[in-house]
Amino acid sequence: MSANTIAINQNMKQFDSHASVWLFGYGSIIFKADFPYLERRPGHITGWARRFWQGSHDHRGTPQSPGRVVTLTPQADAICRGMAYLVTPEVFAHLDHREKNGYLRLVTAIHLDHAGSVEGLIYIAAEDNAAFAGPASEQDIARQIALAEGPSGRNSDYLLMLAQALRELGTDDTHVFEIERQLLALQQADH
Ligand code: SIN
Repeated sequence: MSANTIAINQNMKQFDSHASVWLFGYGSIIFKADFPYLERRPGHITGWARRFWQGSHDHRGTPQSPGRVVTLTPQADAICRGMAYLVTPEVFAHLDHREKNGYLRLVTAIHLDHAGSVEGLIYIAAEDNAAFAGPASEQDIARQIALAEGPSGRNSDYLLMLAQALRELGTDDTHVFEIERQLLALQQADH
């Protein structure tokens, strides 16, 4: 599959006639809401684990030195905590562009804190996309992140902002926190 998913996503029409749609963010969408929303609520999805397995050549890295950002991998018992936003369908034109490097919209159940479950959308980069980087040790992922920088800024800032946002959401994400720990150790060793 091509790395640019804009055209595929814009053919997804199932919520076009709705006045509003819930979008669940588990990565940068948690800490960088650069789109208008009607309401925002912490929540979770089930059956998916957050992993730094997606390559980033366009936002947090370059083709020569790709960064790593999060995607989701199926895992039966996993609970992935994040932030849900109620948006109008027009917002997806912007998000499709922002998430174009391999992410596809997927309809899923979103469990909102204190507000029940709704059907909504997530952006997910599956392993058949051209920018998929795949599993690696947390130490290797931290090393790659330490070196990468792209038009959206340093890859390390993405990691640190995500870890901080997850802490604020009260979630204990061992994968993200271990990569953060490794990155901070690398940065300290550099000084
Ligand atoms: C998301 O935040 O939900 C998708 C992944 C990302 O943009 O970091």
